[in-house]
Amino acid sequence: MSITIKTPEEIDAMRVAGRLASEVLDFITPYIKPGVATGELNRLCHDYMVNTQGTTPAPLNYAPPGYRPYPKSICASVNHQVCHGIPGDRPLKKGDILNIDITVIKDGFHGDTSRMFIVGEGASILAKRLCAVTYECLWLGIAQVRPGARLGDIGHAVQRHAEAAGFSIVREFCGHGIGRKFHEEPQVLHYGRAGTGIALEPGMTFTIEPMINAGRAAISELPDGWTIITKDRSLSAQWEHTVLVSETGYEVLTVSAGSPAAPALLVT
Ligand code: MF3
Ligand code: CO
Ligand code: CO
Repeated sequence: MSITIKTPEEIDAMRVAGRLASEVLDFITPYIKPGVATGELNRLCHDYMVNTQGTTPAPLNYAPPGYRPYPKSICASVNHQVCHGIPGDRPLKKGDILNIDITVIKDGFHGDTSRMFIVGEGASILAKRLCAVTYECLWLGIAQVRPGARLGDIGHAVQRHAEAAGFSIVREFCGHGIGRKFHEEPQVLHYGRAGTGIALEPGMTFTIEPMINAGRAAISELPDGWTIITKDRSLSAQWEHTVLVSETGYEVLTVSAGSPAAPALLVT
């Protein structure tokens, strides 16, 4: 399959799916506190998606080639967990950093977004800086998106900012085309060279979702077959949006009332 160009009707459906995914994050935000288990957050999100929104949680039973079916409805990755953390019974502690990654399906289309959360008080300055810099990296990548820009422009913008801060980019996972399928072409790398890669065209929809480590870039997979951690157990952060290449630039599709504002460094 090659890159799908969405029609105006499909773009409308992607806007709806994107907003709904973001609204799940809005919904869950007040529940994220010390003492709550990520399994409980999964249960709350699942019920909200299925019963309130009428969406389907895309992760549940998702089984790409080489993977066993994903057992939960959200991903919840804590501290040195990079991505695909499986919600479980362990309670969050104050100072933990948590990524919640939500993908919903509505009327056949996917919306995919994640945010970082700092649990209670007492996170380290490093943890807060990692979350903030990763958010800036996401938006610097988004700001590259316009017709005629190259995929490598996105990766380059992300990489430059992360590495200037002394952090490292996870290379094994990337953003992805998205639409009727959860993971479509193209792969959107979070590193690379400006001016390389395919040219962006209006109607493309893809995610940008940098995973950035406070320490080294190397990762390992837990025996659960899903959870990715940093090999050196350093903290890792990730933010994700689903983006449309519009006629003039970009449109972020995963927006809702509770979306954090774009970072100050984007305002020129
Ligand atoms: N939401 C993740 C992404 O951004 C994918 C999670 S796959 C799952 O691509 F099965 F773990 F949910
Ligand atoms: Co994604
Ligand atoms: Co995601």
